[in-house]
Amino acid sequence: MNVLLTGATGFLGEYLLCELLLRGHSVWALYRNESRRRGTCEFLQSLGLPRRGDRLEWINCGLFDLDARWEELSEPRTGLGEVDNVLHCAASTRLFLDSSGDPLKTNIQGARMLVRLLDKRALKLHLISTAYVCGRVVGKTVREENHPRGDFVTVYEESKWEAEQLLFGKATLLRPSVIVGHSETGRCTSFTGWYMLFKAAHLLDRLLGDNPDANRWNLEVDLPAAPHSAINIIPVDYVAGAAVAILENPENHNGIFHLTHPAPPDNQWIMQYISERFKLGGIRLAGSQNRAPVARGSVNQLVWSQIKPVLVHFSNNPLFERGNTDRAVADIKVPTISRELVARLLDYATAADWQA
Ligand SMILES: NC(=O)c1ccc[n+]([C@@H]2O[C@H](COP(=O)([O-])OP(=O)(O)OC[C@H]3O[C@@H](n4cnc5c(N)ncnc54)[C@H](OP(=O)(O)O)[C@@H]3O)[C@@H](O)[C@H]2O)c1
Repeated sequence: MNVLLTGATGFLGEYLLCELLLRGHSVWALYRNESRRRGTCEFLQSLGLPRRGDRLEWINCGLFDLDARWEELSEPRTGLGEVDNVLHCAASTRLFLDSSGDPLKTNIQGARMLVRLLDKRALKLHLISTAYVCGRVVGKTVREENHPRGDFVTVYEESKWEAEQLLFGKATLLRPSVIVGHSETGRCTSFTGWYMLFKAAHLLDRLLGDNPDANRWNLEVDLPAAPHSAINIIPVDYVAGAAVAILENPENHNGIFHLTHPAPPDNQWIMQYISERFKLGGIRLAGSQNRAPVARGSVNQLVWSQIKPVLVHFSNNPLFERGNTDRAVADIKVPTISRELVARLLDYATAADWQA
């Protein structure tokens, strides 16, 4: 394939870029920030991959300008005119609306630009979406199908759903769940989402360590989360490998694929791990219907200030069907989320001090 990849300097984008190059495809990588591009080049070099050359061309262009600048960018020097597939990975991953209008602006305007691009050119389009375009779902398995407007937990989910509506039937919809670091190296460049729970525990461990009054084994925190629900996490190497393999077969184009984990660890398992690793006790899973209690006392308030941003991830934990994905990439094994794997992810994160 001759692939234009947007978001090539982001967390998932870097792994998609590697996977495309490793599997012999040619890539035109869209970027907007020179230092981010240099960082990605260093990463490619560390894997023995070319930083540019015959099969990799860097295109410096804002996402919204791509359609208008296509002809100019297609000058023989870049060869952009040879592109036959667009893999759209660029997005704003902000969960709630900011003053610039993101995540709605980037995610919806980006999809509109792609519609214009498709209207004028013979391109196959593939969108990195999210499994959470379903909105809040209780007690049902989420199918690999187009969803009606849901009860969205975040504005981000809504923006990705809107993008899907613009592109449904015109693009392959690849829907990862919550992406975590590489299953073998632990490498990660975005410590949001699932990582925030561990980051909160790590901070608490350090803060309580210096506080002689803190009873770290009896924090008395009731988390509004169900013990046997699970945040669906999926390693980035699986997402990138499965996504590229799905696109290599034209029969999969314009289909919907859940890049989710078939057996994620439940909240109780995760809490047990946290308790052992960070020597914290008394964080109870009180059920997802419970409201977050009012924090009393300085230690309790400290605990809550760390944990609050994580609650959004506990509030919607559906099960995901993956029939289309299993059929399309039966030969790609989903890494088991073992204690060793979680330890590897956290060792990497703490060594990086949670900085990308
Ligand atoms: N991370 C997850 O858990 C997760 C889960 C499900 C789905 N996804 C989806 O996976 C994709 C990648 O997410 P990620 O976690 O890798 O995010 P990320 O690290 O924030 O990367 C986002 C990429 O998009 C680029 N970008 C953002 N706004 C842009 C704009 N206006 N013009 C051009 N480029 C722009 C960024 O460029 P810069 O490098 O210049 O900032 C970056 O390369 C997104 O579509 C996201 O919705 C992510």
